[in-house]
Amino acid sequence: MMKIAVIGMGYVGLPLALLLAKKNYVIGYDINSDKIKQLKKNIDHTNEVKKKTFNAAKKIFFTNDPVYLKNADFFIIAVPTPIKKNKEPDLKLLKKATILVARNIKNQSVVILESTVYPGTTESICVPIIKKISKLNYINKDSLKNNTKGFYCGFCPERVNPGDKKHTIDKITKVISGSNKHAIIKIKNLYKNICKKIYISSSIKTAEAAKIIENTQRDINIALINELSKIFKLLKIDTREVIATAGTKWNFSKFFPGMVGGHCIGVDPYYLTYKSKNVGFKPNVILAGRKINDGMSNYILKNIIKIYKEKHIDLVKSKILFVGCSFKENVTDTRNSKSIELITKLRKLKTNVDILDQVINENKILDIKVFKSFKNLNQNYYDTIIFSVIHDKFKDTLKKNYKKYLKSDKNIIIDINSFLPKQSSDFRL
Ligand SMILES: NC(=O)c1ccc[n+]([C@@H]2O[C@H](COP(=O)([O-])OP(=O)(O)OC[C@H]3O[C@@H](n4cnc5c(N)ncnc54)[C@H](O)[C@@H]3O)[C@@H](O)[C@H]2O)c1
Repeated sequence: MMKIAVIGMGYVGLPLALLLAKKNYVIGYDINSDKIKQLKKNIDHTNEVKKKTFNAAKKIFFTNDPVYLKNADFFIIAVPTPIKKNKEPDLKLLKKATILVARNIKNQSVVILESTVYPGTTESICVPIIKKISKLNYINKDSLKNNTKGFYCGFCPERVNPGDKKHTIDKITKVISGSNKHAIIKIKNLYKNICKKIYISSSIKTAEAAKIIENTQRDINIALINELSKIFKLLKIDTREVIATAGTKWNFSKFFPGMVGGHCIGVDPYYLTYKSKNVGFKPNVILAGRKINDGMSNYILKNIIKIYKEKHIDLVKSKILFVGCSFKENVTDTRNSKSIELITKLRKLKTNVDILDQVINENKILDIKVFKSFKNLNQNYYDTIIFSVIHDKFKDTLKKNYKKYLKSDKNIIIDINSFLPKQSSDFRL
C-alpha cells in the first residue's frame, strides 16, 4: 500500500489527507501539537470537515513527529504561504516543510506542492533544497527511464473554498503537473480516485501561474466593482441595483463590492506582482486592484463618520454592535479579517464596540467579548449596528430581531454587504 505524507493539516491539507486515507496509508503531519491532539479526537476547529469524513478515513495517522514521514512514496506540502509586512512572499514555512521532506525522502518519492506560490517556486526554491539535503537527483526529463534514481516533483494547486460545501475536492476539476511523464502518471494515479476530473497542465510553472491568476482575477473583479460602488455612491445610484440591471446581459459577470480579507485573494496577487517585478515588469492593474480592496475599510469608516455627523449623533463613546468578524461568511477563520481591521479603526475613535459572531471560535477579539447569540445583548441600547459578515445560518434570526437592540430614537444601520433591503440601512456598498 502507498504511504502518503501530507504536511500541514489546515484548510487544504486536512480534507485532502482524509480523502486520500480512504484507500491509502496517510500520515497527517503538522508542527502544531495542539492541533494534532484535536485531530486525533476527530475534532476540526475550522468546522470544514464533518465527523463522517473523519470516520471514513480509515488509514490516517496524525502526528507532529517527523520520524513517521520516513520513506513516504508521496509528500504533499500544504503549509501557509503568507506575505511579509512589505507585501513580499514569505516562504519561510514552505522552506521549512521542504527541508523536512528532504530529510525523509527516498528514491522514487514524489513531492507535490499544494501551497499557492509564484510561478517557478517549486523548481527554483523547493527542488534545490531537496537535492542538496537528500543527495538525490531531480527526475525532470521525459527521456529518463521510469526507474531512474532520484525524486519527482509536481505542483497540484488547491481550489478548496472555505465555507463552500458545494465545490469540494471530490467534485471539482483537479489541476495536476509533474516534473516528467512518469511523475505525471504517478500523480494522476494518486488523485484520480479522489477527484472528479483531472486536468494535466503542460508544466509545473504553468500550473503555478494558473492558480495564482484564479485568485488575482477575482481580486481585480472585486476591486473594479468596489471602485464602481464609490462612483455610484457619489452619483446617488445603488450599486446592487446597477449590478442586477447589468446582470441581465448574457456576458456581464456579477461581482459584488466588499472588503477582501483572508489569506488567499488578498495575498496571492502579491506573489505574482513580486515575481513580475523580479523579472523586470512593474504590474499596474494588479497592484491598483490591491490598493482599492485594501482601502475599503477606510472608505466604509469615512462614510460611517459622515453619517454620524449628518444624524447629529456623537461618535465618541457611541455604542456600536458589530455583526460578523470572520474574514468571510460561514467560516470560523478570523485571520486577515477586514472586519477586525474596521473594528480596530472604530475603537481608535473611542467608540464602544460589541461583537456578535455566532460562528467564530474566539470568545474575545481585540479584548472585546464576542457574543455568540442575541441572548446577552442589551435591548434598546446601540446607537449603531454594523452588519459586516452575515453567516447564512443566522440570517433569518438577525433580520427578525436586530431592531430590538437599537436605540429607538436615533440610530444608524450600516449594511456593508446588503443583507437588508435597501431602504432599511443608512449605508451599503
Ligand atoms: N484555505 C484556502 O482556501 C486555500 C485554498 C487554496 C490554496 N490555499 C493555499 O494552501 C496553503 C495552505 O493554506 P491553508 O489555508 O490550508 O493554511 P492553514 O493555515 O489553514 O493550515 C496550514 C497548516 O500548516 C501547518 N504548518 C505550518 N508550517 C508547517 C511546517 N513547516 N510543517 C508542518 N506543518 C506546518 C500549520 O500549523 C497549519 O496547521 C497556502 O499556500 C494557501 O495559500 C489555501
